[in-house]
Amino acid sequence: MKTTENTALAANDPIGTIDAIVRRHNVYRGATIPILQEIQQTFGYVAPEAITRISDLTGIPESEIYSIVTFYAQFRLQPVGKYVISVCHGTACHLAGAERITDAFEHATGAKPGQTSKDGLFTLEKVACLGCCSLAPVVNFNDETVARVTPDKAQALVKTARETAAKEKTAKGESRHENPSV
Ligand code: FES
Repeated sequence: MKTTENTALAANDPIGTIDAIVRRHNVYRGATIPILQEIQQTFGYVAPEAITRISDLTGIPESEIYSIVTFYAQFRLQPVGKYVISVCHGTACHLAGAERITDAFEHATGAKPGQTSKDGLFTLEKVACLGCCSLAPVVNFNDETVARVTPDKAQALVKTARETAAKEKTAKGESRHENPSV
């Protein structure tokens, strides 16, 4: 089953989705990382309930699964915002002012690095080299690479994202209003 199918299924039947992922990877210790990767791809993060279920199905102790999730930076234990802002803190970006850029995003979103903003819109994180150092300082804004970011550019990105999210919310509200069965 593809991940897109998983995502639709996940909302309706999270436990069934987790079971299917575990079965697909076989129930053995070496499959823990691929299982966790697919859980995160599907749900956006690895919830405590998912860890309990994986443990029930595989017999791997929850503590062991937790230590894997916390050891690898790729895994998240908390849901992410609609927009994930990854500020590169590799050497070139660090020298080009990554700290200032992170501060600007923190100020604009209200989220500290490693956290999600209270409105659930933005997750801010510091990451290692994104592989395009000549464009430093670089930010991945929801998988879109933004080059030579300045504090002003950071604020503008957040403002645009916020406006887009507000418009989407209004449009959703209006379509519900027009069609109460939705
Ligand atoms: S150091 Fe930032 S892209 Fe390489």
